[in-house]
Amino acid sequence: MNPKRYLITSALPYANGLKHIGHLAGAYLPADTYVRYLRAQKRDVVFVCGSDEHGTAIPIQATKEGTTAQAIIDKYHGVIRQNFDDLGISFDIYDRTSSPVHHETSQEFFTYLNSRGDLSVQESEQYYDEEAKSFLADRYIKGTCPNCGYNSAYGDQCERCGKSLSPDDLINPVSTLSGSAPVKKKTKHWYLPLDRHEEFLRDWILKGHAHDWKVNVLGQCKSWIDGGLQPRAVTRDLDWGVKVPLPEAEGKVLYVWFDAPIGYISATKQWAINNQKDWEPYWYDKDTKLVHFIGKDNIVFHCLIFPVMLKLHGFILPDNVPSNEFMNLEGDKMSTSRNWKIDMQDYIDDFVKKENGGPQAVDMLRYYLTQIAPETKDSEFTWKGFQDAVNSELVSIFGNYVNRTFVLMHKLCNGKVPRLHEDVMDDKDRELMHQFAEVAKAVEDDIEHYRFRDGLFKVIDLARKGNKYMQEKEPWIKAKDSDGMGNPLPEAQKLIDNCLHLCLQSCANLAILANPWLPNTSRKMLYMMKVVDKMLDWENAGKTKLLSVGYSLRAPELLFRKIDDTEVIAQIEKLQQAEAKAAATNESGIRNPESGISHAEIKSEIVYDDFAKLDLRVGKIVSAEKVEKADKLLKLEVDLGFEKRTVVSGIALHYKPEDIIGKQVVVVVNLAPRKMRGIESKGMILMAEDAKGKLHFVLPENTVEPGSGVS
Ligand code: 2FM
Ligand code: ZN
Repeated sequence: MNPKRYLITSALPYANGLKHIGHLAGAYLPADTYVRYLRAQKRDVVFVCGSDEHGTAIPIQATKEGTTAQAIIDKYHGVIRQNFDDLGISFDIYDRTSSPVHHETSQEFFTYLNSRGDLSVQESEQYYDEEAKSFLADRYIKGTCPNCGYNSAYGDQCERCGKSLSPDDLINPVSTLSGSAPVKKKTKHWYLPLDRHEEFLRDWILKGHAHDWKVNVLGQCKSWIDGGLQPRAVTRDLDWGVKVPLPEAEGKVLYVWFDAPIGYISATKQWAINNQKDWEPYWYDKDTKLVHFIGKDNIVFHCLIFPVMLKLHGFILPDNVPSNEFMNLEGDKMSTSRNWKIDMQDYIDDFVKKENGGPQAVDMLRYYLTQIAPETKDSEFTWKGFQDAVNSELVSIFGNYVNRTFVLMHKLCNGKVPRLHEDVMDDKDRELMHQFAEVAKAVEDDIEHYRFRDGLFKVIDLARKGNKYMQEKEPWIKAKDSDGMGNPLPEAQKLIDNCLHLCLQSCANLAILANPWLPNTSRKMLYMMKVVDKMLDWENAGKTKLLSVGYSLRAPELLFRKIDDTEVIAQIEKLQQAEAKAAATNESGIRNPESGISHAEIKSEIVYDDFAKLDLRVGKIVSAEKVEKADKLLKLEVDLGFEKRTVVSGIALHYKPEDIIGKQVVVVVNLAPRKMRGIESKGMILMAEDAKGKLHFVLPENTVEPGSGVS
């Protein structure tokens, strides 16, 4: 039995900066896919999200940008909301926690819990900055992470290893306000005594959801519970946030992680106000299915803390919290501080807003991000992977199948849906027809169980099967069996009709099945098929007679375009330049206090085996020339002793070709070859980059034989 209604939430992003595609893949795209499916199922669903506008991250960003906290949230709320909209994330409301409804709702929540004795009050010693005359909550304090040794970990979390921290965990804490070492000072705070709820959490999660929650989520919950639950402070000494609604709490606000999840409730209220609906059943009726989509660093808040709050207040509990792991980028962790990331805005500017972009570029990203979704373990975005997914799957399988079907239908069936001649149907026809319902059922099961990657694979696989079927049926060959006047003989025409009838019905099925992931593509297919939106209702999935016989269809339009090598190279260069720029200006890089020079943060740790995979050799440059229409590239020929290789290197702004002939260099010789401006580059030259961004060759101290190994 399906629940009566669904309330779907995506983590509220902090409105303190642009959000990257790792965020998109983690908490927004899967939620959107799920919601689009539920809507196609005609279920009652509300999809809420909005900006998280409190916490120390906001005023800190304001200081960085030399403006006010209010200006920061206004700016980023607008940009992030637009980015989601541009990428097809179809929230029913994108609210903000600075709204009056939210302030009221979270204050009422606090007051209710406090009045019933569900919060405790404790006085404790907290870090205080004597120069700035301020307590140092969360991100106002930095120090060395006790877990990974990162020297710029915040008081609430280490951005490198992801561990949740408290200011007392930090080694050598420093105030981010004045740079001075903080002192301890007494202050009073309200706490949520999580320890009182251990039994409830064990029963509800570890027993009740042992079989339907994801293993990674259960694992984290278990380790928190087994580690011993402690009371968590839900107030802070700060002036930015929701005021604690008590006269004795002057100068204190609710902790951002207390108010932010309540934002899901206030957003639902706001949605109800906007649409003249009742919000209460979505939060009180047990027949509502509440699902929180989040990234893995939010698990403890959504699986332990917020559910305890919800239970105490009498609200329903989440039915599931399908959290994803992290998505890495080109071999390294995505990082805002190191600028190793692709912002949604970057993708929108570089692909969607381009002449050859538009809605199909949106679906291309949605496709690749789902295909590599970190559903069970960390995954990796590479531009080459993006190119392969688009070119070999979307273009060559899906797009090509739909295109061929429409082209042949116009050529061999007068642009109309041909009939199905049962008398000449064979097993192959029946098998393809049978697949429609089979695949629809399997895709449905995947989505219902949050396996979005598997579901999408099955959709593409149906197109793959369609392609194979058409290849075997060869209607273009059958058409040659003609009466001499260019018309196929009646028997041949019957076989052509059957093939194209089934291919067209499978395309209609593809439009329905792909819709949760690739909504723009499905819409374009509707246009080509001249059918109304209603056809995308999920009840139509698996049907074999979606398009009526004799109905004339439009000419095909290309569904996807290819991504070419130059785009891949340009994106990788862009990433590298952004990272280098961040390293030069970033306070979270490693700064030499004497020279004042900042260096890039150290990348995540690798084991020796990772290093040993690199094959480094000494080579000698034997020729060098500029690459046409590429300011930065030189084409080099490098003698490696055992062979000569072409290597394209981005050093043209630093060296003239004639100055480097005869130079010894160190080359990575087992890097997969890459085409740059049409030239295949087989290796990479190692370069050192100085503080001004100038590149220098890395050389052996003395001349050695080309081909010598470097280790
Ligand atoms: O990690 C974050 O970006 C938080 N702003 C997520 C909040 S989710 C919810 F609780 F609001
Ligand atoms: Zn750490």
